Amino acid sequence: MELSSNDAKLSQNSSQGSYHSEIIADHYNALEEKGLIARDNSRIIHMRNFNNWIKSTLLSVFLKRVKASKKEGEDINVLDMGCGKGGDLFKWRDGGVTHAIFADLAETSVRQCEQRYEDLKRRSGKRLFSAEFISADCTRVCLLLFCCYHELL
Ligand SMILES: C[S@@+](CC[C@H](N)C(=O)[O-])C[C@H]1O[C@@H](n2cnc3c(N)ncnc32)[C@H](O)[C@@H]1O
Repeated sequence: MELSSNDAKLSQNSSQGSYHSEIIADHYNALEEKGLIARDNSRIIHMRNFNNWIKSTLLSVFLKRVKASKKEGEDINVLDMGCGKGGDLFKWRDGGVTHAIFADLAETSVRQCEQRYEDLKRRSGKRLFSAEFISADCTRVCLLLFCCYHELL
């Protein structure tokens, strides 16, 4: 059986975790931004919508709990680990968060996420949460300082 180039990379370098990160980053960096029309034509659109609905519901339930545990007007800060191109930007906006840190190992995705955030900010005026963007392998880079700074811990 012939190995794909990624399989070959993995088998040659299985003891070196950084190659796994590289393969994942390459995969996500190479994904094209296809836009909403292509998304609607996807064969798995109903599955994607269902998955998205579950995620929105969970985020909303937990954000309500976080708000209930805070004093009136206190900040709500989130760490979106593996943020990709920012598929959850609207969920954070609708959940009323104050600040979000977006981190992903795929640099291209992080740039697209930042671009989408800036577009949304232009359209939403000053009401949108503030944000930071970090390209990093979250299993290797210590995001602790960012989290402590924003009182996420
Ligand atoms: C299925 S995508 C989800 C993207 C986004 N959260 C969304 O819902 O649209 C998974 C993401 O996790 C990222 N990822 C995987 N391993 C990671 C790691 N070790 N550190 C940071 N990001 C990682 C990938 O680059 C990819 O963007």
